[in-house]
Amino acid sequence: MADFARRNIIKAVVPAAGLGTRFLPATKATPKEMLPVVDKPAIQYVVEEAVAAGLHDVLIITGRSKRSIEDHFDRAYELEEALAAKDDKERLALVRESSELAYVHYVRQGEPRGLGHAVLCAAQHVGDEPCAVLLGDDMIDPRDPLLNRMIEVRQRHGGSVLALMEVSPDEVSRYGCAAITPTDDGDVVRVTDLVEKPPRGEEPSRWIIIGRYVVDPAVFGVLRETPPGRGGEIQLTDALKVLAERGPGEGGPVHGVLFRGRRYDTGDKVDYLRTVVQFASDREDLGPEFLPWLREFLADREDGVR
Ligand code: UTP
Repeated sequence: MADFARRNIIKAVVPAAGLGTRFLPATKATPKEMLPVVDKPAIQYVVEEAVAAGLHDVLIITGRSKRSIEDHFDRAYELEEALAAKDDKERLALVRESSELAYVHYVRQGEPRGLGHAVLCAAQHVGDEPCAVLLGDDMIDPRDPLLNRMIEVRQRHGGSVLALMEVSPDEVSRYGCAAITPTDDGDVVRVTDLVEKPPRGEEPSRWIIIGRYVVDPAVFGVLRETPPGRGGEIQLTDALKVLAERGPGEGGPVHGVLFRGRRYDTGDKVDYLRTVVQFASDREDLGPEFLPWLREFLADREDGVR
């Protein structure tokens, strides 16, 4: 294994300071990362995913109107005492779970100046180490592990690693898209270029960037030099595009893991609804009651009953 790749990844950065305008009005005073997927906020699934990949040091990038995120990962003494007094062990364990999950730290992004700027806010905490970045509203199904594979790829090739997902030609223009070449690993590609929201017909592939990254610390230096791009925001994609042109030891190269599992963008209303229905249906304690209702509801809809 090359020297530049040897350092273990122990830190995760979870940007959660965005405005969440796609989910207004719910996100006027509530962070979109706190919207519940059944009975747990989306960001808790994201922190659980980091911990499952062995990353126990989690830095959440927060901002104004995001205080409830800090409260969620902290102790809730009054609630705990009330549940303890009732000897409600099951709910007490649920309440404590999020505060015992990881070593959670916070840094505030003064203004939401883009995902690249949010990641740059992590520079001091992360230091000269590679780290994982997990977007706080983007969930990967725990049954389809991705982050461990991305960490393995970083350890083999160094540089940075993106998660890529194939979408239909109609959808590519809504996302950041990667130009790729194959490697000798079937699920790993070399990323040669990145294009943010390519016009229809000009997309370099159908593989889009989703919300998981393993980044070399060189990304921070590049982000400091990255001017605001699309939407006047400092884009992480622009910095990764620079790293994709660099060699080993300078923050490059950039590889992509081709992800074929289930991913949910909970910051999008329709995807959020799909996520809740899927997770509720799969739950042993809720599915048996929920699914027959759902079937009946859909059958009635088809018959025009309600
Ligand atoms: P999105 O691209 O979903 O942007 O951010 P957004 O502004 O939050 O949402 P919409 O489009 O207005 O609905 C992806 C992730 O990056 C974080 C968000 O919190 C989300 O987890 N982010 C984005 C920041 O932390 N800071 C920013 O300045 C922008």
